[in-house]
Amino acid sequence: MSLFDESFSIKSLKKMLTKHDKPYLDVELSDKSGNVKAKIWNDALDKYEDSTEGDIVEVTATVENYNDNLQLRISSLKKTNEYNLSDYQAVSARDIESMVEQVNQAIESTKNKFLQKLLKNVFTKDFLKDFSESSASYRIHHAYKAGLIEHVTEMLVMADSILVRYPKMNSDLLRAGILLHDIGKIKEYQTNTSITISTQGKLLGHIFMGAEYVKAQAPKDMPELLLDEILHLVLSHHGQLEYGSPILPKTPEAITLAALDNSSAKINSSYMAIHETDSDDEFTVYYRHLGTELYRSPYMDSLTNEDVPF
Ligand SMILES: [Fe+2]
Ligand SMILES: [Fe+2]
Repeated sequence: MSLFDESFSIKSLKKMLTKHDKPYLDVELSDKSGNVKAKIWNDALDKYEDSTEGDIVEVTATVENYNDNLQLRISSLKKTNEYNLSDYQAVSARDIESMVEQVNQAIESTKNKFLQKLLKNVFTKDFLKDFSESSASYRIHHAYKAGLIEHVTEMLVMADSILVRYPKMNSDLLRAGILLHDIGKIKEYQTNTSITISTQGKLLGHIFMGAEYVKAQAPKDMPELLLDEILHLVLSHHGQLEYGSPILPKTPEAITLAALDNSSAKINSSYMAIHETDSDDEFTVYYRHLGTELYRSPYMDSLTNEDVPF
C-alpha cells in the first residue's frame, strides 16, 4: 500500500545512524486518528525538506509491516503552511465548558478556607483556560486537547463514590489534590498540531513543576503542615518511586489519589489502544505501559455510547 502527498503533523523527528554509520531519520507522524511511526532512509534524505516537530507535512510513502506494527517508509516529505488545525488536533469528546464548571464547583465547595484560597490563587481565569486545553500526556492516556481536564474531572467523579464509603477521609484535601496533582502538565506538554514535550518539561517533569507552583501560590498564612500535606499529595501521586514520584503516598488521601490517578489513566489508555488498532484485529499490539496486548471485544461497537471517550 502507498500514500501519496498525505498530510500529517510531525510528532517527533530524530536524526539517527545505522549500524554502518549511514544517517537516517526516525519519525513519528500524527493526525486526529492517531500516530504512525516512519523512517526516512538514507536513499530518500534528499527528498526531505527540513522540518521540525509540530510542522504539518505532505508525505509520500509505502506502508510496511514492522514487528506487527504499520510503519511508513517515506520517499518524500515536504512542509505545508496551508491546513486546518482541527484536522490534526484530537480533542476530548466531552463538553469542555461543563468540565470547567465541574472544576469551579469543586473549588467553590471546598470548606477549608486555606485550601480554597490556594485553589483560587492557582485556578485564575487565564490558568483555567490553559488547564482546559492541555493534554494529559504525550501519548499514554487522555493524550488529546482537553485531556487533562477530562482526566481530572473523571477523578473527581470517582472520588465521590469513595468519599461516601469513607466519611472520615478529608474530602477537601482529596479534591484539592485531584485538582492540583497534574497542573505541572500545562507547562510539560505543548498541545498544538501534535502533542510535544517542552524543554522545561523534559528537564523538570510535571511533578516537580506542579509542587513548586502550588508552594508559590499558597496563601501566606496557610498552616505549614496543611501545605505539606497538599504538597505530599502532588509529590506522591504516581504511587511508586519507579513511576517518578520522589516519595510514596503516606496518607489515606494520598493513597486514594494515586489509585484514582492510576485507574483513570489505565482505563482511558485501554480505549486509546483499542481505538488505534484496526477494527479487524482481535488483539491490539503489545503496549509496554499496560504490560499486555488488549482484546478487542466484538461487543464493543454495540456498547459504544456517549460514556465511551471515543
Ligand atoms: Fe502525573
Ligand atoms: Fe494524573
